[in-house]
Amino acid sequence: GRPDPCTLVLFGATGDLAERKLFPALFELARSGLLPEHFAIVAFSRSKLEDASFREHVKEGLQKFSRTQPLDEAAWKRFADTIETASGGYDDPEAFKRLAQKLQDIAKRHKTEGNQLYYMATPASTFPQIIKSLADADLLKREEQPGQKPWHRLIIEKPFGHDLESAKKLNKELGAVLDEKQIFRIDHYLGKETVQNILVFRFANAIFEPLWNRQHIDHVEITASEAIGVEGRGGFYDETGVIRDMVQNHLLQVLALCAMEPPVSFAAEDIRDEKNKVFRALRPVEGEEVAQHVVVGQYEGYQDETGVKKGSRTPTYVAMKMNIDSWRWQGVPFYLRAGKNLKKRLTEVSIHFKSVPIGLFSGGGASCQRLQPNVLTLRIQPHEGIALSFESKIPGEDVNIGGVTMDMDYAESFKKPVPEAYERLLLDCMRGNATLFARQDSVEQAWGYITPILQALETEAGGKVHTYAKGSKGPDAADALPAKNGRRWSAL
Ligand code: BG6
Repeated sequence: GRPDPCTLVLFGATGDLAERKLFPALFELARSGLLPEHFAIVAFSRSKLEDASFREHVKEGLQKFSRTQPLDEAAWKRFADTIETASGGYDDPEAFKRLAQKLQDIAKRHKTEGNQLYYMATPASTFPQIIKSLADADLLKREEQPGQKPWHRLIIEKPFGHDLESAKKLNKELGAVLDEKQIFRIDHYLGKETVQNILVFRFANAIFEPLWNRQHIDHVEITASEAIGVEGRGGFYDETGVIRDMVQNHLLQVLALCAMEPPVSFAAEDIRDEKNKVFRALRPVEGEEVAQHVVVGQYEGYQDETGVKKGSRTPTYVAMKMNIDSWRWQGVPFYLRAGKNLKKRLTEVSIHFKSVPIGLFSGGGASCQRLQPNVLTLRIQPHEGIALSFESKIPGEDVNIGGVTMDMDYAESFKKPVPEAYERLLLDCMRGNATLFARQDSVEQAWGYITPILQALETEAGGKVHTYAKGSKGPDAADALPAKNGRRWSAL
């Protein structure tokens, strides 16, 4: 059914995320009749906003970023009526009194029953102040018992901290005001259909899971290659770097979904418990070991980007070898790589199976001596799909062998557009379903793994920052990671 009536208060309403992702997602939900029947949005900004001109600004954004074009005018008119504005400093009690008044008024006019969802599309440094001001104005109340009404929930955007210490501090500040159940930490990778399908693929089919372990898998590769650069976010990116931007959150979440044990049920806490066990089993990489396990790079010209410091050591590319010390994965390395300004946009997981035990066909032609191990590829984007490569006899009198692929393509199989991650995640939050959000302990576990790596990389001894050409596959030095064990990255 449709979610509870509610008002969504959007902090950072004039920002890039709101324009590119949040309003398009909300509009799409509205257009498809998935939003609550009684619903309103309050766009909050530090700069003065006025309802009519802000709605116009949202409309222009939708004309650029909505996934259904041209804009559905009738749906827009209905949606526009739900948007109102509020403004003021995050530390200004008067602004929050006005917000409280507005919310009361909206609850009456739109019948939203006092349920409030706060979306923090602002820099993490602003979270504590906004939360304090909301709590002081009695707008954010701790949930004392499950299912309490009206409900107050908070969505926060990554980065959830800068390292383990700051993540703990942030979690403590949130925990002082809210119950963990009210906090929704968005990792938009978890909202991607193809990422959600990892669990369905593994646990709704009987034939893959028996192979999903150290007996049959040689290694796993997770790639998030982007063709774009820092796109005008130089200042933010230079403070962040690829490990905090992509690995600590998105890629570790994907890794956890691939590596976790079957949960006892599909309930949020059961799934999140299993993911957390994966994080706990990650073998730490610290100090001198970092240079053996991690290769970082920076694209040529990065230091000329606006907002980037000259001489910056911030990596825009990383390749790493990770181990999971669990019964299932002992001895199976997970190779991760992510980077900007690479050859192409490609996010995928590939499961590389072991070779056949003996070369039965070695008497055949040359192709028989080069049997390729099977690879199962989960393509997250673009061209979402799942492919299995295997060896096959090439038709003819001799036994010659060639690689072929069985390929499932989402677009072809389901003939309907894949929804945007934010649509699913906003809806889940309104429904109170936290399955696809990151839990406090996992966030801290992930930082616990990443922080020593970041610390080692900050020193010269921690490793060289290799330069790579824009549009390349990244630094050649990354090849050494799998090559040490006779393996190779899949081609980009
Ligand atoms: C964001 C990062 O979280 O994810 C960006 O901050 C990155 O730097 C983006 O480009 C990648 O997301 P997607 O959905 O395009 O793979």
